[in-house]
Parts: sequence; C-alpha cells; structure tokens
Amino acid sequence: MEAEPRAFPDHRMPRHVAIIMDGNGRWAQQRYLPRTAGHRAGVTAVRKVVEHCVEKGVEALTLFAFSSENWRRPQEEVSVLMDLFLSTLGRETEKLHENRVRLRIIGDRSAFSPQLQEKIAASEALTAGNSGMSLIVAANYGGRWDILNAMRTLAAQIAAGSLRAEDLTEDLLSRHVSLADLPEPDLFIRTGGDQRISNFMLWQLAYTELFFTATLWPDFDEQLLDQAFADFARRQRRFGYTGEQVEALSSGHGDIS
Ligand code: IPE
Ligand code: IPE
Ligand code: MG
Repeated sequence: MEAEPRAFPDHRMPRHVAIIMDGNGRWAQQRYLPRTAGHRAGVTAVRKVVEHCVEKGVEALTLFAFSSENWRRPQEEVSVLMDLFLSTLGRETEKLHENRVRLRIIGDRSAFSPQLQEKIAASEALTAGNSGMSLIVAANYGGRWDILNAMRTLAAQIAAGSLRAEDLTEDLLSRHVSLADLPEPDLFIRTGGDQRISNFMLWQLAYTELFFTATLWPDFDEQLLDQAFADFARRQRRFGYTGEQVEALSSGHGDIS
C-alpha cells in the first residue's frame, strides 16, 4: 500500500481543528450545580472558540457535541442537551451567517425530534453558500457509525455490481466518510483531562496531532486555544517519513529517497 500523504503539509497553523468538548459535568459539580449548568456554561466557550478560529483563519472547526453513546445518560440530561442544541442553533445561526460561516451537522440526525431536524436543515441551508470557515457540529455522531455508513454505501455498490470488492481502497473509503470534502483534522483537542478518543472521528484522525488539556470545557478560552496552536506549530508531522526526509520535503528541495 502506497503511503503518500495528500500533499505534504507544512502549515504552522492547523487548517482543520477538531475538539472533544469535555468536562461540563465536572465543572458544574465543582460548583455544586446540576450537570446541565455545565452544558449551558459550555455554550459560552463554544462561542469564544468559534470566533477565535474565524479570526485566526482556521478553515474548518469540528466540535463533538453529543456522541452516539451519550444517549446512555440520564434522560433529563439528554433532554436538556437537545433543548440547548435547538436554542443555540436558533440564537446563533444568523450571527454565524453574517460571519460567512458554513454550518454543518454530522451524525445520525434521524434520532432527533422533528423540530430539531428542521432547525438543523434550515441552519445548514441558510449558510450552505458561505465561503468562510466551516463549522461542523458532531451530534449523535460516532466514529464507528461513520465508517459503517461509508461501508454500507460501498457494499450496496458492490451488491449492485457497480463496484468490485478488489477495487475498494483507502482513498475510496475516505471519500465516503463524513467531511470527505475537507482536509482531515490537523489538530485534535480534548479538554477535561481524559486522554481518549471516545469514538470521535476514528478514520479521519489517523494522522492528527493530539492535544490534551485538563482544563474543563466551560473554562476553555482563546488563550488556551492559542497554546494549542503554538504547541501544534512546534511539532514535526512525519507521516511515516524520517525527520530528515520531512525537512527536505518541507524546505522544498531535496528528494525523499
Ligand atoms: C461534555 O461534558 C459534554 C457532553 C458529553 C455532551 P461532559 O458532560 O461529558 O462532562 P464530564 O466529562 O461529565 O465532566
Ligand atoms: C465525548 O465525551 C463526547 C462529547 C464530548 C460530546 P464523553 O464524556 O461522552 O466521553 P467518555 O464517556 O468520558 O469517554
Ligand atoms: Mg465527559
């Protein structure tokens, strides 16, 4: 299997940032508040991060808002999260549109209420033509679901005779998972202190730089985001090459043999 990266990236700034916004519940518990107060406080951090990414020229920002496993939580918490999603879309969509942000939701939206599904569709439709930052909210999203979905599409093509199993490639699968039209995430951030992927973008994160912080999501802000960017800028992404090969490649001369 050839291991050519898409194009050798030597960006000091990530083009695509993906964030697991974790720690809302603990933030609230530390204050003797119900967990849901943490989710509400988390919306403020979302606003800050979106604005800062727009200012910094980030092309795509993907935020993990609700995982396919989060349905396991107490029904009361799930329902507050759904309400918050709906009200936040209602309140923020217009402003995002003014800032030329293109909003997209990834995940299985069929489980949401008809009202939420309509709001999602309307927000996406309003901002679909925008050429600014892509803001992706992963809601009822799971990395395994994403890969399975892609496989189902391809399996149907194989069953219909329009694709042969031996013609399945990594590239073809990449073109059928969520966000196939965007560069894969360059920088992944998880707040809240846990160092795991929790079924986020399993396929797309293969070569993403990982940044973990103990800061709880409602306390995450522009300064911390800049710290993550600075940390990212110091890293050498090798994609399987040696460090010397990467230096030759990114300085634009020398071959990689
Ligand atoms: C992340 O914060 C938000 C969602 C998963 C919806 P948590 O609610 O997971 O907060 P902790 O991890 O319990 O502190
Ligand atoms: C991941 O956080 C999902 C979101 C932030 C939406 P969780 O809090 O659900 O992850 P686990 O359960 O600790 O792995
Ligand atoms: Mg959590």
